[in-house]
Amino acid sequence: MKKAVLIVVAALLIPCPSLLFGIQDVFDTWQDKHLLSDGKNTILDVPYVQTESYIVQEMLSLLDLQGSDVLYDLGCGDGRIVIEAVKKKGVRGVGIDIDPRRIAESRANANAARVDDRTLFLQQDLFISDFGDATALTLFLLPELNLRLRPKLFRDLKPGTRIVSHNFNMGDWEPDRTAFAGVWEDGPRYIYFWVLPANISGRWQGSYKNDEWMLTIRQRFRRSMGACSSTDRPSSPF
Ligand SMILES: C[S@@+](CC[C@H](N)C(=O)[O-])C[C@H]1O[C@@H](n2cnc3c(N)ncnc32)[C@H](O)[C@@H]1O
Repeated sequence: MKKAVLIVVAALLIPCPSLLFGIQDVFDTWQDKHLLSDGKNTILDVPYVQTESYIVQEMLSLLDLQGSDVLYDLGCGDGRIVIEAVKKKGVRGVGIDIDPRRIAESRANANAARVDDRTLFLQQDLFISDFGDATALTLFLLPELNLRLRPKLFRDLKPGTRIVSHNFNMGDWEPDRTAFAGVWEDGPRYIYFWVLPANISGRWQGSYKNDEWMLTIRQRFRRSMGACSSTDRPSSPF
């Protein structure tokens, strides 16, 4: 049965070599986008797709960057977001990408833009890299990768760090702002913006006017709920 299918496919393809080459082209493009050139056939977590320059500007404007900021782009591609931020806003910029080709391109682009003294491009896996000194972060990954990354963002980043994501949100961590970035050939695009909230969850104890009180706070992202009790009064939710 398998042999018969093969014969039929071959009979269809042999008279049409352009179809065969077309398939090879499609495979080469897929391979170029998804595979790391490390000889181990490592599949990228997300293929290389560039953020359009108009959207880069919108992302940077949402971040409202100042000269003292340290901006990281996780999965930096050719370094365009980092380089633009350093050129326009005078920040320090770090790009992280697992693909050595992207890091080589980023370094060459930073050199051509004369910003290599304020940029750093590191070939690393973003899920294990150390970006705790970031004050601003840009992402263009995938929804499931944003969700996988979310616990690390809360663990490693300082409260107040600003984050923008091109087109993909963070599930039930609602953005502080959403900007419409126009309709493109693949449909409407959005940019999501968050400020990392401080972790205030837990039990807090104190005294007020000779009263001892206990405050228990439960937190889910920027929403928090708590109950306050004192030694001689029942607990009250707020
Ligand atoms: C959609 S592109 C975004 C490129 C750039 N940030 C932009 O917006 O133009 C995603 C990038 O993430 C990189 N990447 C994929 N998996 C990664 C991983 N685990 N760690 C670091 N970079 C990764 C890819 O090589 C690719 O360059």
